[in-house]
Amino acid sequence: MSNYPVDISVKPEVKAFFDPDTNTISYVVKDPGSNACAVIDSVMDIDYAAGRITYGHADEIIAWIKGNGLDVEWIIETHVHADHLSAAPYIQQKLGGKIGIGDKIMVVQDTFGKVFNEGTEFQRDGSQFDALFKDGDTYQVGSMQAFAMYTPGHTPACMVHVMGNAAFVGDTLFMPDGGSARADFPGGDAGVLYDSIQKVLALPDDMRLFMCHDYGPNGRDIKWETTVGDEKANNIHVGGGKSREDFIKFRTERDSQLAMPRLIIPSLQVNMRAGDIPTDKDGRAMLKVPINGL
Ligand SMILES: [Fe+2]
Repeated sequence: MSNYPVDISVKPEVKAFFDPDTNTISYVVKDPGSNACAVIDSVMDIDYAAGRITYGHADEIIAWIKGNGLDVEWIIETHVHADHLSAAPYIQQKLGGKIGIGDKIMVVQDTFGKVFNEGTEFQRDGSQFDALFKDGDTYQVGSMQAFAMYTPGHTPACMVHVMGNAAFVGDTLFMPDGGSARADFPGGDAGVLYDSIQKVLALPDDMRLFMCHDYGPNGRDIKWETTVGDEKANNIHVGGGKSREDFIKFRTERDSQLAMPRLIIPSLQVNMRAGDIPTDKDGRAMLKVPINGL
């Protein structure tokens, strides 16, 4: 990518919030030119065995935003997560802001609307979200410009968001020693993921990259920030110019051995609704478990 639709010399302040239960990293990204901020990939806590929802992680983010006197303009989801529940509506209710995701959410809603046998009242047009991004769409966080780019492969609706010199890669990449995310969920595709990763690696070498997940491979401490140059040179799945063919072979073999994420069933039902918990015919918050449906 030689021309950028935004000024990538702007340096936002990025505050990370690690959730140890799901190994997710949520971010608050602050415009250096104003008090505006964006929240990326927040987490709502669930004790799935007990069917209990709490907001400890989101409350920590909210307290930090309030403590720093920031205004939330955006609450962004990089994709429909399968391993944690989004706290976007809870944060929006407390602090405002628009909830945004890629417009390919409609593909994901169509797929999982069928898996969970949702009725016609479940809209598959992305209307649960305030904004749907297309490839290359630009938006503002205060005076800072941002853009979103399609990075499908892990899921059809995955997007990477670039805000100034910081890119939020979702599950497109992990830290160099973590490699890449699986590509075997419905709508996932290892070859498409490889192509999306190449788009990220085509950003400038010194662009800061922020991961959505880290699992501390080989016992190292949790990390979430690297650069394009570091990923290009050192990523164990795609670094050093690994070929598309080799990546597809490796990724497909690895994925066939992975168990389903612990929270995939509640996560999909909530996240495809922009973080709202589904309700039954009497209006009670209720989740389903499709038997042999995934
Ligand atoms: Fe994911």
